[in-house]
Amino acid sequence: MYSEKVMDHFQHPRNVGQLPDADGIGEMGNPVCGDIMKLYIKVRDDRIQDVKFQTFGCGAAIATSSMMTELVMGKTLDEAERVTRKNVAEALDGLPPNKMHCSNLAADALHKAIEDYRTKNAPPA
Ligand code: FES
Repeated sequence: MYSEKVMDHFQHPRNVGQLPDADGIGEMGNPVCGDIMKLYIKVRDDRIQDVKFQTFGCGAAIATSSMMTELVMGKTLDEAERVTRKNVAEALDGLPPNKMHCSNLAADALHKAIEDYRTKNAPPA
């Protein structure tokens, strides 16, 4: 039912944890099931220098969170913003159709973390 990549990222998730000195934090709940994800980013020269996540959710949510951190590490904020839930699902060789909603968490939390960073670092009006 799950691809080998999904199982690998579920059993050995990359970049789990917190960044105490994060520049941006995004927290997202999945309205479908109530699962929650928190994503931390460290930004240098407009690039994601480090990213960590905590996901209180199902295996598919953990696998997509893990894969998403690998996809955006080192990318500029504009590039990272263009990473969609579809990109993440494809990088995992697909998700079962009834688990596609689980991939929303990672992409939405990432967008929130970038928004949080931009709000905190907006030039004074
Ligand atoms: Fe909640 Fe997968 S069932 S994110």
